[in-house]
Amino acid sequence: LVASMEQVDETYIMVKPDGVQRGLVGEIISRFEKKGFKLTGLKLFQCPKELAEEHYKDLKAKPFFPGLIDYITSGPVVCMAWEGVGVVASARKLIGSTDPLKAEPGTIRGDLAVQTGRNVVHGSDSPENGKREIGLWFKEGELCQWTPAQAPWLR
Ligand code: TYD
Repeated sequence: LVASMEQVDETYIMVKPDGVQRGLVGEIISRFEKKGFKLTGLKLFQCPKELAEEHYKDLKAKPFFPGLIDYITSGPVVCMAWEGVGVVASARKLIGSTDPLKAEPGTIRGDLAVQTGRNVVHGSDSPENGKREIGLWFKEGELCQWTPAQAPWLR
């Protein structure tokens, strides 16, 4: 394997309720699949308020926090765990800036969104938060560790 000495990270990616309702789930999953990362968890889920508050606990003091919690709990989200070398930083690049009007064309937010408060997708901001968030959103039996039978380009 080419990069076998490099650290494999994991990240938590979530299609937010606007992404689900606008029919963007497949498009968003596709971007990470095509890049070459490995999917290890996937579910459609109605997030309870307590979980949304725990997930975004670092933003509790922000004026937009109550609106953010209402938005994230307003309908089902698609929860994903992805694995790969450099997956956390790479996923942030694929997603683009928090404000979709500042996100570059070619990124998910740059191509598919216009409002910070409706920016269609979440991605963990550090490997530590990747682990923390996957632990928050998934139970152990919901994750799959797998190795492709004859396709070593996916690790
Ligand atoms: P943040 O963690 O700063 O951004 P990112 O999702 O890019 O890691 O903020 C979390 C979410 O909070 C963000 O995706 C959308 C929402 N938000 C607002 O609604 N208004 C704001 O001014 C900011 C900074 C974020």
